[in-house]
Amino acid sequence: MSVCAVIAAAGKGERLPGAHVKQFARLGGRPMFAYAVEKFELCAAVDEIVIVTLEDYIEFCQEVAARENFRKVTRVAPGGRTRQESVYRALELTDADFVLVHDAARPFVSLEDIAKVAAETLAGKCCTLGAPVKDTVKICEPGEAGNSVRKIVGSPPRELLWAVQTPQGFPRTVLLDAHRRAAARGLAVTDDCALVAAAGGQVLVVPGGYGNIKITTAEDLLFAEYLLGNGGYTHGR
Ligand code: CTP
Ligand code: MG
Repeated sequence: MSVCAVIAAAGKGERLPGAHVKQFARLGGRPMFAYAVEKFELCAAVDEIVIVTLEDYIEFCQEVAARENFRKVTRVAPGGRTRQESVYRALELTDADFVLVHDAARPFVSLEDIAKVAAETLAGKCCTLGAPVKDTVKICEPGEAGNSVRKIVGSPPRELLWAVQTPQGFPRTVLLDAHRRAAARGLAVTDDCALVAAAGGQVLVVPGGYGNIKITTAEDLLFAEYLLGNGGYTHGR
């Protein structure tokens, strides 16, 4: 039974403008995406790593993979306009029995949490890492612009809400089928679990830690540097 880790690194990081797109920004002297790739390189359950990225960064990713001795990286290929398209492209580049899809912008995922997701996945489940939300969450009307005041239309009970992270694990053919159906219907979502659910599949949440943050805005990058410098993250294992 083979397992492929898909690293989604083809975003433009529009919420975090800078000299480099966020997944290639320097974090503790290394390009951010290298932290995530390293974790899958070190995970015994993973056989192969496919990275999808922006055309302009394909060579850079290959150079970093060679420099860091990431032997499991088999393909560095172009992603798509959306995360969904990027993952879809990656799925067509592997024959592995199972896939673990991970955001390049989540450098702090722990080996322990990857192993928990891999175990459920290898048992044939579709699953995602996640954590209970800390904030009280509201559903709002769309509003006019990004930051305009808007009406609250729903208050879901916090105890039922989980913020999902990555990796998200699936039998490859199940996820590929879900992507094909979504593409045919024009369904656009922000994670792979939603595609499997839309295709009628059952998805589980595997409880993970709060440290597996996604670097999205400038504050997250500052916090990431702080974590690196204060023992909140251990290099390698
Ligand atoms: N991603 C991708 N292909 C895209 C868009 C996103 O592979 N076309 C990846 C990003 O590189 C990131 C992950 O999906 O590792 C999560 O997406 P997000 O945090 O939204 O990153 P961006 O889309 O780059 O950021 P933004 O939405 O702020 O533009
Ligand atoms: Mg995005």
